[in-house]
Amino acid sequence: MRTLVVGAAGKTGSRVAGRLREQGREVVAASRSLTGFDWYEPDTHDDALSGVDSAYLVAPVGDPDPVGVMGPFLERAARQGVRRIVLLSVAPAESGGPGLGRVHALVPTLFAEWAVLRPTWFMQNLVGAHPHARSIADRGELITATGDARVALIDVDDIADVAVRALTGPPPNTDWLLTGPEAVSYTDVAAVISEVTGVPLRHRAVEPEELRAYLETFLPAAAAARMAGLDRIIASGSQERVTGVVEEVTGRPARTLWDWAVRHRSQLPA
Ligand SMILES: NC(=O)c1ccc[n+]([C@@H]2O[C@H](COP(=O)([O-])OP(=O)(O)OC[C@H]3O[C@@H](n4cnc5c(N)ncnc54)[C@H](OP(=O)(O)O)[C@@H]3O)[C@@H](O)[C@H]2O)c1
Repeated sequence: MRTLVVGAAGKTGSRVAGRLREQGREVVAASRSLTGFDWYEPDTHDDALSGVDSAYLVAPVGDPDPVGVMGPFLERAARQGVRRIVLLSVAPAESGGPGLGRVHALVPTLFAEWAVLRPTWFMQNLVGAHPHARSIADRGELITATGDARVALIDVDDIADVAVRALTGPPPNTDWLLTGPEAVSYTDVAAVISEVTGVPLRHRAVEPEELRAYLETFLPAAAAARMAGLDRIIASGSQERVTGVVEEVTGRPARTLWDWAVRHRSQLPA
C-alpha cells in the first residue's frame, strides 16, 4: 500500500503525508522542491507513480486550466493501477465547470474509488507566504476586496484530516464541500487576531482594482489579478455556507478561527 502525495511541500500535502506516515503507511511525497516531480514535466511522472495504489493531488497552483497537465497524468495513473484518487479542488468549482471543475469531472470516469475535496479559503493564508500575512506584518492591515461579505474559513488541519479518511477509509465516491464552523468577515478575522495577539489589526476593504494594484507591488501581474479576482467570489456572498462535513467525516467539529489564532500565536504579530 503506497500513497503518492503531490504538493507534499505545501499546506495540505505536507500534513496529509505526515499523517499517513504516522499511521505507518508508505508515502511518496512529491513536489518540484522535494523530488523533482513537476506537473509540467511528464518525464517525472512515471517514477512518482511506481507501485502506488492511491494518490492525493494538489493541482499546479495558479494554472487556469489544470486539466491540460492533470488529465494525461490521471490517465497514466489509471493505466498503472492506481485505485483511488483524492483531488484537492476549491469550494466554488463545480464538477464540469471551468478550471479544477474539469479535473473533478474526469476523476470518476477513470477511478472506481475517489473523492474531491472542495474547501473554502484557508485560515493558514493569514500566516506564512500569503499576501494577507505580508500586509498584516508590514502594515497592520488585512487588505481585501471582500467588503463585509463572510466566508467560512477552514483550518488546513481539518482538510488534512478529511483527506486521510478519504484515502484510507471506505471510498467516498463523492465531492465534499469543506468549511470551517462559522462564516466570518475579514473585519471579524482582524478582531479575533487583535484580541489573541493584543496587537491592533484592522481590515481595509478596497475595490478589486486597488487590491490588484497593491498585490502587483510584490506579485507578478497575473498572480495579482488572479488573487484580486478570488476576492470578488467572496464579495458576491456565495461563500457564506457552513457545512458539517468535517464533523461527519472525522467525528469531531471543525476547528474555530479563535482556536487557530491561539495555536498560531507565534506566527502572528507580537
Ligand atoms: N489558499 C486557499 O485559501 C485555498 C482554498 C481552497 C483551495 N485551495 C487550493 O489549494 C491548492 C494549494 O494552494 P496553496 O496556495 O495553499 O499551495 P500549497 O499547497 O501550500 O503549495 C503548493 C504545493 O504544490 C507544489 N507545486 C506547485 N507547483 C507545482 C508543479 N508545477 N509541479 C509539482 N508540484 C507543484 C508546491 O511544491 P514545490 O514548489 O516544491 O513544487 C507545493 O507543495 C490550490 O489548488 C488551491 O486552489 C487553496
